[in-house]
Amino acid sequence: MRILVVGGGGREHALVWKLHQSPRVTDIYCVPGNAGIAEIATCFADVTADDVIEINNLCFEYHIDLVVVGPELPLTFGLVDTLEQNNIKVFGPNQKAAQLEASKRFMKDLCAQHDIPTATYETFTNAEEAISFIDEFENDVVIKADGLAAGKGVIIPQSKAQAKQAVTSMLHDGAFGEAGQTIIIEEFLEGPEVSFFAICDGQTVIPFGTAEDHKRAFDGDKGPNTGGMGAFSPSYLVSDDLTQRIMDDIIAPTLEGLRAKNIVFKGVLYAGLILVDGQPKLLEYNVRFGDPECQVLMMRLETDLVDILDAAADNRLDEVKEHVTWSDQSALTVVLAADGYPENYQKGTVITGVDSIDQHPHFAIFHAGTARNANGHLINTGGRVLNFTSRENDVSSARSVVYTKLEQI
Ligand code: AMP
Ligand code: GLY
Repeated sequence: MRILVVGGGGREHALVWKLHQSPRVTDIYCVPGNAGIAEIATCFADVTADDVIEINNLCFEYHIDLVVVGPELPLTFGLVDTLEQNNIKVFGPNQKAAQLEASKRFMKDLCAQHDIPTATYETFTNAEEAISFIDEFENDVVIKADGLAAGKGVIIPQSKAQAKQAVTSMLHDGAFGEAGQTIIIEEFLEGPEVSFFAICDGQTVIPFGTAEDHKRAFDGDKGPNTGGMGAFSPSYLVSDDLTQRIMDDIIAPTLEGLRAKNIVFKGVLYAGLILVDGQPKLLEYNVRFGDPECQVLMMRLETDLVDILDAAADNRLDEVKEHVTWSDQSALTVVLAADGYPENYQKGTVITGVDSIDQHPHFAIFHAGTARNANGHLINTGGRVLNFTSRENDVSSARSVVYTKLEQI
């Protein structure tokens, strides 16, 4: 099979790494890819992940059998819709299904319509109404921009005054532009957070692992929020019983609710959950693998990934449903980021030491923002640069391996 992967981060390197292990795969292509991916796949570094037309053209030119989409942006732009119109097989949700991530209002309304446990909420487009709601609301609130805001659209205010400021900045002052013209105000919930993954083909759905991620930039849970600085899998907090509850009370009614709107969800459904007194509540949906959560999932997945993604794209996930197996070991990944990330950082810094580190089936260095310069040296092109990913008998052993190897960079 000839597979094209869309995206160029650590998530996509982990997907390409796993796909590359399949005897069914002959060629892998990647748009735009990165220096790590380029070692095992053909990269089109000049094409961006949201260039729907060029990706279509590449699929025809290279006779692609299956497209796998990593990031959310091309999904919300309708890449899957366009590929399907052209009879190109693709793993990922269409534009309507991607609303689960692209619009918090869409996701919250679906929860309300189908009794899916989530924080109580109201939607506003008018600042005065939002402010009087805050005045009357008894508990602490969280303010969310409806649309995609590059991970910055959620504000957790420390006081009512701060909450009102957030409302004004979004609805009056246009912070987050169009994405913040509609806002959600919801109750603040407290509890540990877990990432829960499921793969769907429109009819069949299978749970696809759990993880916990580290969002703050620095050690000790300090510093600004980022896209994710590390993750481990599985989560200790999700038992088999809880998995079943999440599937029954959250995932299944979501897919049913979408079907009632004539929306078929095909792809990865990633539920961001908070456990309140042990009870799962849905904080958000993503319609793709997490980054860096995908890196630890791929490190634990034993089944051929192509069998799963191809079956999901073909609406025959029921054929593989019983055959998906995972390592009992724990996987952990640590992100090496450029100094200053997530704010200002330098690009083009030369990275040394990577090539001399031994990699094997349970230790990999997944690249994120990397490229080779004219001299062939590895340089950074983004804030998150490398993901050291290890699988061992327990999380602390995996962490020891990662931190020992990090010393060599
Ligand atoms: P979201 O993009 O909705 O997942 O929000 C990003 C982060 O904000 C979550 O991972 C939580 O840490 C936090 N958060 C979101 N909603 C709530 C809530 N209702 N209560 C407490 N924390 C929240
Ligand atoms: N690591 C969080 C995300 O991928 O959305």
